[in-house]
Amino acid sequence: MGFFTSSIGRKIVMSLTGLFLITFLIVHLGVNLLTLVSAELFNEASHFMATNPLIQAMQYVLALGFVLHISQGIILQIRNKQARPQNYAMNKPATNSSWSSRSMILTGLLILLFLILHLKDYFWVMKFGEMPAGQTDYDLVTGLFQNKLYTLIYVASFILLGFHLDHGFQSAFQSAGVNHRKYTPMIRKIGRVYSLLMALGFSLIALYFSFAN
Ligand code: HEM
Repeated sequence: MGFFTSSIGRKIVMSLTGLFLITFLIVHLGVNLLTLVSAELFNEASHFMATNPLIQAMQYVLALGFVLHISQGIILQIRNKQARPQNYAMNKPATNSSWSSRSMILTGLLILLFLILHLKDYFWVMKFGEMPAGQTDYDLVTGLFQNKLYTLIYVASFILLGFHLDHGFQSAFQSAGVNHRKYTPMIRKIGRVYSLLMALGFSLIALYFSFAN
């Protein structure tokens, strides 16, 4: 127990859950991009995800991953603030660190707000709600983007997600102990490409259905 409540233990939990969530986002974007290919294909994939026992079991792991990642992140932030209530004047944070690395708690909490909205409108409706007669998963997913404000909130969240992932990706490897003269710059580059693909890919879906109809 002591390990998981130590600062290094919390960082390792953040790192492992972060890597797991990074993988989830690739699968999630992959399935959602099918909306741009064909409605039938997306509905089939969505049906598979909703009925496959292995995917259903993974949803509990995913929920645990999110809960641990968010709770440990908040606790780490509070502990850091308690240890160093005043920012060092000599630190010159703007020149010595990136905006994304200094704003992980801010971008993280805003993504949490997005997630609450998202789960309410998609996951909850599909799983426990009443789908209007004749409406498919595709109709629900694409229909919400008819509302321009909704699309704007989504795209703004995806941009913040991009910044969060850009720092988070390389930080996850660092906290897991990968710190190498040759590999670390490569991990940073892969992280940047990954974050851009996620932010652009999810935004493309929202913008396409907002303007294509
Ligand atoms: C255009 C962007 C997105 C679309 C169209 C979309 C669509 C969906 C849909 C249809 C579901 C319900 C799946 C089901 O229950 O069968 C869902 C669930 C979920 N989404 Fe998204 N999503 C988007 C972006 C995101 C992002 C950026 C995140 C994370 C930061 C995210 C996290 C989740 C989670 C955690 C669930 C619940 C777990 C699951 O059902 O797989 N989504 N999303």
